Parts: sequence; C-alpha cells; structure tokens
Amino acid sequence: MSLPFDGAISDYARTDAPAWVREQIKDAKKNAVLDPEFPYETRWNKDAYEDAMAALQIELVKLQSWTRSSGARICAIFEGRDAAGKGGNIKRFRENLNARGVHTAALPKPSEREAGQWYFQRYIQHLPAAGEITLFDRSWYNRGVVEDVFGFCTPDERALFFDQVVPFEQMLVEDGIHLFKIWLTVGRAEQLRRMLDREGDPLKQWKLSGIDVKGLPLYDRYTQSIGETLDRTHTEAAPWTVIRADDKRRARVQVLRAILSQIPYDGRDDSVVHPIDSQITGGPDLWH
Ligand code: ADP
Ligand code: AMP
Ligand code: MLT
Repeated sequence: MSLPFDGAISDYARTDAPAWVREQIKDAKKNAVLDPEFPYETRWNKDAYEDAMAALQIELVKLQSWTRSSGARICAIFEGRDAAGKGGNIKRFRENLNARGVHTAALPKPSEREAGQWYFQRYIQHLPAAGEITLFDRSWYNRGVVEDVFGFCTPDERALFFDQVVPFEQMLVEDGIHLFKIWLTVGRAEQLRRMLDREGDPLKQWKLSGIDVKGLPLYDRYTQSIGETLDRTHTEAAPWTVIRADDKRRARVQVLRAILSQIPYDGRDDSVVHPIDSQITGGPDLWH
C-alpha cells in the first residue's frame, strides 16, 4: 500500500525537526520515555501493567452491567494531539464489553450539509441513551484546536464555540449524563517517534493522515490553541482530566481509573480503581 505522503514523516524527522527532538529520538531504547520531564525514565513494567489492566477490565464489565441495569448514561470524550493515544485508549475501554451498549463516535470532517448546521448538532446524535456508553474519539473540541490551527473555522465561529460549549456541557451534566473529558498529552519527540512507527508499519499506516503530516511542524502552534481551549473549558460541571501519555501503559491505566473512580457502579473495587498517580493525572495545570 502506498500513501500519498509516503516517507513524509521520515523526511521531516531527518531534516526539519528541531535538533533537540532529533536528539531525543536518536538511539533511544524502546522502553525509554523520551520527555526528560516525565516523572519516570522508562515505561511501566509489562507484568505490572498487564495485572493492573486485567483488574480494570473486570471493573469495566461491572460498570457496563450497572449502566444497563440502572439506565445510566456514560459519555467520555478522548482528546489530544495526533498520536497521543486516543484510539488505543478507546480500544482498551471497549475490549471486553458488550458491543451493543458501547458506541464509539469518530466523526469525519463535516459534510457540506453538516457544515451548514449548528456546530454541535452532529455530535448530539451520538450522545448515550439510557444504559449506554459513548466514547468520542475526538469531539466538538475540534473547533478549539485543529480547526483553529488549520483555519477550518473563522475566529468568530471559534469565539461562539467557546461561548456555547460551557452551557452545552452543563446541560448534559444537569440532565444526568456522566461526562468525562480526557486530555491525553504527549511530548514532541514521542509524537514523532509514534508517527515514524506508524509510517513503517503496514498495520498502522491507516492511522496517519495528511493533517498529521502537516501538523508535525505546527507543534507549538497546537500548544497555543490547546492551552487556550483547556483554560476556557475547564469548568466545575465538566472539568478536564489531563493525563500525561508519554508512557502508554501508565496512561491507559490512569484513564480507566480516572473514569471508574468517579462512577458509583455496583461492586466497585476501590483498591483497583483508586490509585491515581498525581504526577501523571490532574487538571490543566499538569499540561505544558
Ligand atoms: P484523525 O487524527 O482523527 O485520524 P485527521 O488527523 O485526519 O484525523 O484529522 C483531524 C481532525 O480534523 C478530524 O477530526 C477531522 O475530522 C478534522 N478535519 C479535517 N479536515 C477538516 C476540515 N476541512 N474541516 C473541519 N475539520 C476537519
Ligand atoms: P524552544 O525551541 O527552545 O523555543 O522550545 C520550544 C519548546 O520545546 C518548549 O516548550 C521547550 O520547553 C521545549 N524544549 C526545548 N528544548 C528541549 C529539550 N532539550 N528537551 C525537551 N523539551 C525541550
Ligand atoms: C491515537 O494515537 O490513536 C491518536 O491520538 C489518533 C491520531 O493519531 O490522530
């Protein structure tokens, strides 16, 4: 299979990437965490990860059972830079659940008709009904970040988005939806390392898009839009959980704990869901 941007990522890594990014990637061991400010130097031990994940999978099954019997509605949105791990986290969330009660919404770019609707309209159709769990792989926050970076919306449209998103989410929460907003954050060198990996792996190439390639040199521009978005939308009704995702294993466990620990489902084992690592999981203050 050949992609229109074949080799574009390795070209970028070789030529345009900042020297410090190239330095961090160069000769890095597979299990090394690249960001020198990450609280751990290596990724989490595989056995420990697998044990924690296995226990959390059992909690997720209990969560779904409770969701169906109580008629609760669960909605988690996964946001973050390209290659932050949104898809991988969603995959682990759903892995052992009954597909009938859990939906993933990964909407493509708006059609012409959708572009002529109220911005939130196409997302609303995917919100959970009683007994359902909806996982958003990207969300209405596109307007805060990627649409801003690439100029897909006007500044006025974005300003209106910020005015509307706060009351919009508040309405969802007031109506009883359990709403989680997860922001996965990943460093510049780690992002590039993952994209290089995708470029070289036929099973992962589908994860790359033209936006990813064009976005690589725009890392700092993204930083600006992300910071503004988190600041303006971190509310009491619908706070962000920011998770440092440079180590995928730790991040996956933290994501599930952050969600499970806040839902009062039957039979919850607090010894499994409670240990939150505050060096990795927090609010927008954790983000830089
Ligand atoms: P992903 O990383 O989710 O696989 P892409 O990197 O291709 O997808 O695109 C990032 C996001 O930008 C997607 O949510 C996509 O729908 C959105 N997007 C791409 N092009 C446009 C556009 N012209 N207008 C609005 N949104 C767009
Ligand atoms: P600069 O290119 O120095 O303007 O830095 C841009 C961003 O990259 C800032 O957030 C810096 O903290 C970060 N940065 C710069 N150098 C390094 C480095 N050697 N390791 C990690 N991050 C860095
Ligand atoms: C992922 O790793 O699944 C990403 O966050 C999706 C992407 O690359 O845009």
